[in-house]
Amino acid sequence: MIATRLHPDKHIAAQSIAREIATLIQLRSKSGKSTVLGLATGSTPLPLYAELIRLHRDEGLSFRTVVTFNLDEYVGLGPTHPQSYRHFMEEHLFRHLDVPVSQIHIPDGLTNDAPHHCATYEAAIRHAGGIDLQILGLGRTGHIGFNEPPAAADTRTRQVHLDEMTRQDNSVFFGDLSLVPSAALTMGVATIMEARRIELLAFGEGKSAIVHRAMQETPSAKCPATWLQRHPHCTFHLDSGSSKQT
Ligand code: F6R
Repeated sequence: MIATRLHPDKHIAAQSIAREIATLIQLRSKSGKSTVLGLATGSTPLPLYAELIRLHRDEGLSFRTVVTFNLDEYVGLGPTHPQSYRHFMEEHLFRHLDVPVSQIHIPDGLTNDAPHHCATYEAAIRHAGGIDLQILGLGRTGHIGFNEPPAAADTRTRQVHLDEMTRQDNSVFFGDLSLVPSAALTMGVATIMEARRIELLAFGEGKSAIVHRAMQETPSAKCPATWLQRHPHCTFHLDSGSSKQT
């Protein structure tokens, strides 16, 4: 069962979700516990990251007890590549916060042993105690992370091929479609579903058709986001555009 929250706009949504994350971090750190966050890249979470940075800067919210795991990374792009997700996260979040570097995890797009690296990534999530709160965006193909259709419910962190629609959508960041990698490392559907709480963000009319499918279609590999219907604590944060009935 997916809960929905309709926000006046993506900035107000960001404020509300950032406040929930802050409360979680503060409550857990009071009892000596770390908070494990699963993080996404792309344009959707940018206002949320800006708000987390503001809470740190203006309200003294500390991220020292936070452990992070990013969903995915392009194969072949290293940390200095401007379009790598490692670079994205540094620029848009980590360099503005006090998360200890040793507590930040992002799949390594330059690994030469993807199966081993992905198994190690899964083990690190388990070792951290599992993900407390997972932030997700939603691709127009129905992907969560980079789990393109078809993606079964039992998929784990692994190397995948990117759908042509996803490469097209992301080519705006690269300037040219030919520069968009065709493969990525991504947490699997099962990895994502093990998070104790999932907050999916989708804004704008361009996402309304896929939001509708994710919520209404019978869960199947054809639209990986439909698996979220089986999660006990998943909320879709929408605006008037993305919640429009198509
Ligand atoms: C990014 C990710 C993807 C994006 C999705 C939406 O780490 O895992 O699933 O969340 O492609 O991208 P935007 O937000 O750019 O529309």
